[in-house]
Amino acid sequence: MTQYEGITRRGLLGGLVGTAAAAATVPLGSGDAGAQSAPTGEVTVRLTVNGAATSLTVDPRVTLLDAVRERLRLPGTKKGCDRGQCGACTVHVDGRRVLSCLTLLATVDGAAVTTIEGLADGDRLHPLQRAFIEQDGLQCGFCTPGQIMSAAAIIGDGRAGTDAEIREQMSGNICRCSAYPGILAAIRQARTELS
Ligand code: FES
Ligand code: FES
Repeated sequence: MTQYEGITRRGLLGGLVGTAAAAATVPLGSGDAGAQSAPTGEVTVRLTVNGAATSLTVDPRVTLLDAVRERLRLPGTKKGCDRGQCGACTVHVDGRRVLSCLTLLATVDGAAVTTIEGLADGDRLHPLQRAFIEQDGLQCGFCTPGQIMSAAAIIGDGRAGTDAEIREQMSGNICRCSAYPGILAAIRQARTELS
């Protein structure tokens, strides 16, 4: 028994997974304050993030991950390894999952980007977000946004048909807490709801 057991586990996890809805209200344009004084060599990128049009003027070496977290103030997408090996930074670009740490912002000019903050429907959690809570698909929650974004993509593409297929398709999303049984159960549950 720990001193934290008075806190409802599902209530705590709900707060973690539900961060999306609250963070989605941050005005996306707020990250563009430096555009007017942009030094030569920077590039202006226009894109839609979670349904809101925005533009950013950045060094061409800035990744989509850093732009989302640091310029657009959307911290739900996590920086794990920052080298394409953990899946924590997974977002959708034009409906396809990508590793945002390996994607330069300049290469997604004109694209529609969805982060974990854009998955919920207002205050209503996405079926995957609910399923991760109900199936205990997370412990510390660090990998969870990436897991959920990856899972949403494979369900949408019809690549989550069997447990073996889910395991294979989700193999790029690492969970250091080894919450894999719950993650698998959550994807199964959401697949049924979304199909
Ligand atoms: S942070 Fe992008 S794959 Fe690990
Ligand atoms: S829940 Fe902790 S890393 Fe996956």
